[in-house]
Amino acid sequence: MSPDTLTLARPDDWHLHLRDGDSLAAVLPDTARRFGRAIVMPNLLPPVRNVDDAMAYRGRILASLPAGMRFEPLMTLYLTEATTPADVRAAKASTHVHAVKYYPAGATTNSQSGVTDLARCDAVFEAMQEIGLPLLLHGEVTDADVDVFDREAVFIERHLQRLVDAFPRLKIVLEHVTTREGVDFVTSARPGVAATLTAHHLLLNRNALFRGGLRPHAYCLPVVKRERHRQALMDAATSGNPRFFLGTDSAPHAKSAKESGCGCAGIYTAHAGIELYAEAFDAAGAIDRLEAFASFHGPDFYGLARNTETITLTRQPWQVPDELPLGAVALVPMRAGETIGWRLQDTQA
Ligand code: DOR
Ligand code: ZN
Repeated sequence: MSPDTLTLARPDDWHLHLRDGDSLAAVLPDTARRFGRAIVMPNLLPPVRNVDDAMAYRGRILASLPAGMRFEPLMTLYLTEATTPADVRAAKASTHVHAVKYYPAGATTNSQSGVTDLARCDAVFEAMQEIGLPLLLHGEVTDADVDVFDREAVFIERHLQRLVDAFPRLKIVLEHVTTREGVDFVTSARPGVAATLTAHHLLLNRNALFRGGLRPHAYCLPVVKRERHRQALMDAATSGNPRFFLGTDSAPHAKSAKESGCGCAGIYTAHAGIELYAEAFDAAGAIDRLEAFASFHGPDFYGLARNTETITLTRQPWQVPDELPLGAVALVPMRAGETIGWRLQDTQA
């Protein structure tokens, strides 16, 4: 029987969408209550392309933080085919930009400015390798002839293997890994290759998309996969292997944008950003492995200090609201109207 109370070093979220403006103000407290820091994704409209954009966005995030809350946004740049080695050097020199994010053009929310041919970015990757700035990958191909469920596996074959070999000292994170192929690749890759795992990919398989009808709130990218893949993700998360760490990919969208004839990709999990992982680890009998996954492996990979504060979780079911405010509109959080088995004891207001 695992304990009913768990105190762990304050975790960090190594993959987060905070958006901007009213949406930013609405979602930021959920993350800041739980996590000390977060890697903030740059897929705004227009995207965060250079150090000036990143510093301005960082300022808006800090200005949105409620008084008395502590939280450190770790900024990223959005890789485009116009990104230069000078851009990434300036970003690194700022000390506030911690990575560069690759989106294949057209892959997901606000990815219109993404990259169509990775080889065009080789000079930028060379510079990132030299200065020690990690490359974060949305690891999917977008070719119309590739099955949606195979996009990650094909990305690994066609692109990831080459990147890992061609830039042997480049730090690479396969973000939101969703397949057994992804887990196997990262597990056996050279040092400096890691992956983040979302709570929703640990908890859901693709049946969730069709439970009693079409479920737009279970739709994200990469799309949730078969049960055998979910099991591989759980094994990786609970293995103790430092290459795997927490990244929620919490992605708020208005309810109306999800419940639509062409619904947006993204699942909002920040309201239970650590509790959902606790539930998944507990179900696997591995709650004792949560702290390293959530609080140690990420900062170790990024070369940052581990957090010294702690948070406490209790095994105490609570009901998730049907909706949460998102500025003037509403979002539907993961598990809306249902219960979550672990609760956060609040320390920040
Ligand atoms: O489901 C997703 N939502 N996947 C992404 O890659 C982007 C994200 C978003 O920004 O909404
Ligand atoms: Zn994301």
